[in-house]
Amino acid sequence: MNYAGLEQELKAQPRTFLVTGAAGFIGSHLVERLLHLGQSVVGLDDFSTGHRTNVDAFVGDGYRFVEGDIRDPAACQRAVEGVEVVLHQAALGSVPRSIDNPQLTHAVNVDGFLNMLVAARDAGVTRFVYASSSSVYGDHPQLPKVEDEVGAVLSPYAASKKMNEIYADVFARCYGFATTGLRYFNVFGPRQDPNGPYAAVIPRWLACLKAGEACAIYGDGETSRDFCYVENAVQANLLSAFAPADGARVLNVAVGDRTTLTELHAALAKAAKARGAEPKEAVYQEFRDGDVRHSLADVSRAKAQVGFVPAVRIDEGIDHTVAAFWEQA
Ligand SMILES: NC(=O)c1ccc[n+]([C@@H]2O[C@H](COP(=O)([O-])OP(=O)(O)OC[C@H]3O[C@@H](n4cnc5c(N)ncnc54)[C@H](O)[C@@H]3O)[C@@H](O)[C@H]2O)c1
Repeated sequence: MNYAGLEQELKAQPRTFLVTGAAGFIGSHLVERLLHLGQSVVGLDDFSTGHRTNVDAFVGDGYRFVEGDIRDPAACQRAVEGVEVVLHQAALGSVPRSIDNPQLTHAVNVDGFLNMLVAARDAGVTRFVYASSSSVYGDHPQLPKVEDEVGAVLSPYAASKKMNEIYADVFARCYGFATTGLRYFNVFGPRQDPNGPYAAVIPRWLACLKAGEACAIYGDGETSRDFCYVENAVQANLLSAFAPADGARVLNVAVGDRTTLTELHAALAKAAKARGAEPKEAVYQEFRDGDVRHSLADVSRAKAQVGFVPAVRIDEGIDHTVAAFWEQA
């Protein structure tokens, strides 16, 4: 089924979804879309990196919010009550954060994940889609990345996402519980947090450009990523939740285009300039520990298995993101 067809089907036959990490960037976009499609939504979040504003903006008819920590099995059980589909996004992101505090990343991303899997299985959830990460490819040199060719992981964060995939596989084998892991490649868009030491590159640079400061590029600027606008991630989640599933699959979620950091900086600076900013030259700094050099996805498996076709390419995504960022106070 294509995405437009799926939206029609959901409108005709609404379901009940749990979105974990609902106060975060990707989670809040999932909540927004599901409510727009007339679905019943439960959100779960502990506000550790997410924001109340991302919940308050949507709370109302059809939306029940549970404040809780996925490290607490009882909170997971409360949240899955009456739910048919789980879209599990809650985790602590960021490679550097995981290098600074591997135990915390493990507790949330692995123990919390296992709590959600158990709660979903016990509640009779029919579909479980979760956020994995392109970091699982680690040091494997092949480009573009295909799902079965992974290398050694390079950070505790990547290890935690690999553990998610291992547990998902084991749950399919031991309990017949079908799951889809989405290996997101650098998702970006409105509401991505620009603040703090662990902010992702696009919101961090937009904040610098808006403040008239120079952006820091780690390394020589030739590091490349497959930047994926958040709409593509939303569509991949919903398509994965309703395509026929058997066992534990993992799918790349990206566009299939590679952009270097120097190119990205130029594109953001151009878009900022069009809105009146006066961009400064970027400052090149040391490479960061744990970062992979190049990242580019082959998205053909996601297309074949769930009908995923990236709807928004990077230029259009940057336009939407910069516009939203400039509208904010
Ligand atoms: N944004 C990306 O480029 C990207 C890339 C690869 C994977 N991912 C994964 O996608 C998911 C969503 O990422 P995001 O970019 O929206 O990040 P985010 O930080 O904006 O959202 C994560 C949300 O999870 C919540 N959370 C964290 N720990 C929790 C806990 N113990 N209990 C309950 N809630 C908790 C946070 O408060 C936050 O609202 C994460 O699993 C992340 O690892 C994101």
